[in-house]
Amino acid sequence: MDTPQIVIRPEQPADVAAIRTLVAAAFAPEPVADLVEAIRDSRHYVAEMALVAEAAGTVVGHVMISGATLRTEDGDRPVVMLSPLAVAETNRRQGIGGALVRAVCAIAEERGEPLVIVEGDPAYYGRFGFEHSLLHGIEIDLPDWAPPEAAQVMRLSNYDPSLIGRVLYPPAFADLED
Ligand SMILES: CC(C)(COP(=O)(O)OP(=O)(O)OC[C@H]1O[C@@H](n2cnc3c(N)ncnc32)[C@H](O)[C@@H]1OP(=O)(O)O)[C@@H](O)C(=O)NCCC(=O)NCCS
Repeated sequence: MDTPQIVIRPEQPADVAAIRTLVAAAFAPEPVADLVEAIRDSRHYVAEMALVAEAAGTVVGHVMISGATLRTEDGDRPVVMLSPLAVAETNRRQGIGGALVRAVCAIAEERGEPLVIVEGDPAYYGRFGFEHSLLHGIEIDLPDWAPPEAAQVMRLSNYDPSLIGRVLYPPAFADLED
């Protein structure tokens, strides 16, 4: 069977229900679909960095990069964070997750963002250029079950080494913290 062509494009209002179903299934029982909607309804949402992957007219993947804050010794600095990333179970291991991560990080680069923060498995994110955030002086509070290496950062062309401090999660993430 031929694999349908994958189109990566910004999410649209008509995709909201499909994204909810996709994200809820990918992270069940965690309420990550609620997180997507809370980010979308917040000032931290960046429409051009909320992407879907579509195959034959169906949404099979979704990723968001949205705003967060880095608390440094010299004050708060705006940064961006990749969360969440989801691919439909039947469409995994076809490179869709990777294509979404690369596409959304390329938009962050074009926008002049200095770095992208992520909380996730370094065995996955390392291939895209994410590194342990503490190597660059960035602290990310992780859930108890996550290993310290889950705190990662991708430095972009506009990276500035004075970006040292602790990531403050926006209120949309409050329900996921434990
Ligand atoms: C993680 C996820 C987005 C990957 O999507 P995908 O489209 O299958 O990703 P790709 O095809 O680009 O890459 C697949 C590769 O990543 C590996 N991989 C997937 N999840 C991984 C993980 N958590 N840790 C390490 N490797 C992982 C696969 O084994 C596969 O490896 P291979 O290329 O050597 O076979 C998808 O599995 C998913 O939606 N999972 C549930 C939600 C989730 O965990 N999201 C990430 C939260 S940080």
